[in-house]
Amino acid sequence: MTGNQALQRDLGHGGSAHTGQNSAIRAELVGGLLSHNASIHAKYFYDALGSKLFEAIGLLDEYDLGRAEAGIFAADAQHITAAAGVDRVFIDLGAGNCAKASSLFATLKPSHYVAVDIAADFLTEAVNRLQAEHPEIPMQAVALDFSETFSLPTAVPAARRLFFYPGSSIGNFTPLQAVQFFGRVRAACGADGAILVGVDLVKDAARLEAAYDDPLGVTAAFNLNILRHVNRLIGTDFIPTQWRHVALFNADQSRIEMHLEARCALRVTWPGGQRAFAAGARIHTENSYKYTQAGFISLLGQAGFSRTQCWTDAQNQFLVCYAKAN
Ligand code: AVI
Repeated sequence: MTGNQALQRDLGHGGSAHTGQNSAIRAELVGGLLSHNASIHAKYFYDALGSKLFEAIGLLDEYDLGRAEAGIFAADAQHITAAAGVDRVFIDLGAGNCAKASSLFATLKPSHYVAVDIAADFLTEAVNRLQAEHPEIPMQAVALDFSETFSLPTAVPAARRLFFYPGSSIGNFTPLQAVQFFGRVRAACGADGAILVGVDLVKDAARLEAAYDDPLGVTAAFNLNILRHVNRLIGTDFIPTQWRHVALFNADQSRIEMHLEARCALRVTWPGGQRAFAAGARIHTENSYKYTQAGFISLLGQAGFSRTQCWTDAQNQFLVCYAKAN
């Protein structure tokens, strides 16, 4: 994810949020810290170090979402193309380095490629590189926070759009938010539009928990790093060593939850506020929802998508779905 590199840029390196323009970030973070069930929004994971730690998570044996998804794209590219058809306007939401989308170019043969992400600089570089490799495909980099709006530039053709949302990022929304998000995607589809989306499947709790609490402590570092990021953003005085990484599978909600748990009674202060935490008190930092195939097809259906076709890996760990907007 690159959106939070943009957040860093907006705040300036080591910037603080006491300066007017950052008041929304400050209000969101302080609101989360003061709420009954304290929380920090997961988007704050991704400062420069957090983005690197997330890349490292993707290399862990225990966290195999990315490899499972890439395996499906490799094994089922022909089937995906048979469902979607060629010559589509391929719109990559959260494109990052564009690697996942470009792995499908050879079969999908898109008429256009539109890479959407929050951070313009990183995206433009990635698209320029890809354009040199694929001069035959017109490409566009669009810097946009697509979690809020889908107002794509008018230069993006309005018909035959295929929105691409891989990586199980949809799992970081609640199911209700996911339906609303898919609803916005569908509204932006135009004539003959569709979506291709990847999501992690529900599986054995021990396996899921190992993926989010790996033995090397990479995910723990990723989780704890959010405290340093928040310190820089709003001047809190979190001491990461006073907190413990907790990852648990909440079977009722079908989600992995990540929390930070106070190792001792402590107080966190920031300009204009403070909160005491008892030993064992938690700050909720992330939900990662896991779906069954039927549940995910139903979610797409609630947003108005239909005629869903799905592919899984041999171990049934991950799901890729193609669905039509109309
Ligand atoms: C970005 N997102 C899909 C990851 C996930 O699995 O929910 C973020 C992550 N959190 C811990 N490990 C990876």
